Order: sequence, then structure tokens, then C-alpha cells
Amino acid sequence: MRRSDKTKMVALTFDDGPWDGTDQLLNILRRLRVKASFFVIGRQIAGRESTLRRMRREGHVIGNHSWSHPMLTALPADRVREELLWTQSQIQKASGYEPCLMRPPYGALSDVVMPSLKGFRPVLWDVDAADWERPPAELIAERSLAGARPGSIILLHDGGGDRSQTIAAVPKIVKGLRRRGLSPVTLTKLLGLRERH
Ligand code: NI
Repeated sequence: MRRSDKTKMVALTFDDGPWDGTDQLLNILRRLRVKASFFVIGRQIAGRESTLRRMRREGHVIGNHSWSHPMLTALPADRVREELLWTQSQIQKASGYEPCLMRPPYGALSDVVMPSLKGFRPVLWDVDAADWERPPAELIAERSLAGARPGSIILLHDGGGDRSQTIAAVPKIVKGLRRRGLSPVTLTKLLGLRERH
């Protein structure tokens, strides 16, 4: 493999799960041999622990997306910390894994929030498919591919509503990326981080 091929990586990221369709999405990712990253909401984990275990088993990365999906910039520092640590403990209990990555709901960060993130690396995105508007799968794929370039982080959602269009878009996105020589990898790999277990 040439060096230039190696560096053409992108990350598919899925927010707001675990949710009803997450296992179906995991089936599709397994079939496509794609590893993705999931930013999960702490209060949704109870009853879906096996989905988180499966994510880890199948090589996906789990990140912390807060306990209740508030705008962190509207909270005092101690509440921000609670949102992250409650979720962290729920992820740890479910999967034995403690994420080092977090994504602030709505991408909202501030000078108050940043110091409360100690130990966490915030990860935003550069490509937004706006799949939460529930457009047709073709449009979700088109939007995802339009902005994708080497190093891109693509924002999609597996939770927060009916995500059947997003799930249907994933094979089209992966096919389109690969056609352009872009390889979907986990955030750990994209960002060159050491895996932490
Ligand atoms: Ni979210």
C-alpha cells in the first residue's frame, strides 16, 4: 500500500444512540467491513448494554455524548462534569470500556465547558449530512459524500428518532467513499490515537 493510500482516511460517526436501529446498523457495518465511531447518550444505555458490548467486540469506537443531551454551554461546570461522568460509568458498566473521546451535544463548547472536559478529547465534525431532518437515503448519501475529503469526520445519527433513512444511506456512503479512494476508519485511527482499554 502506498503512503498516499494510507492517509486517505475518513471517519463515519453516529450520534445519539444506542437506539432501536443500532443493531441493524451494526449488521450493515459488519457486512461492509467498516469500523465506525458511536457517540452514545448515557441515559439510553440501560437495556441496550449488549449493543455497546457488540460495538466494542466488532472494533467500533465508543465516545461520550453526555447523559441527557443538554446544551453544555448552558450548564455550570459541575453539571457538565456530572453529564460526562455518569455516562462514562454507564458505558464502563455495559462494555468494560472507558472512552477518551467526547462530543458535545450540538457541537456547543465554551470557555466554561472546556476546563470541565479534563481527560476527554472533544471531537466535532466537518461534514454534516443533516440526517436528523430525515431526508431520503439518497440525499443523506449525497450530502455525506459532497463534503468528504481525506481526514473528514462525517456526522450521522443512529438515535433520536426513526433512523431508517440513515441506515439505508450507509451502504451508499461507504460505496461512494471507496470509489473516491477514501477509507472509512475509526476516530482512534483517523486521529492517530493510542487505543485505550
Ligand atoms: Ni447529539
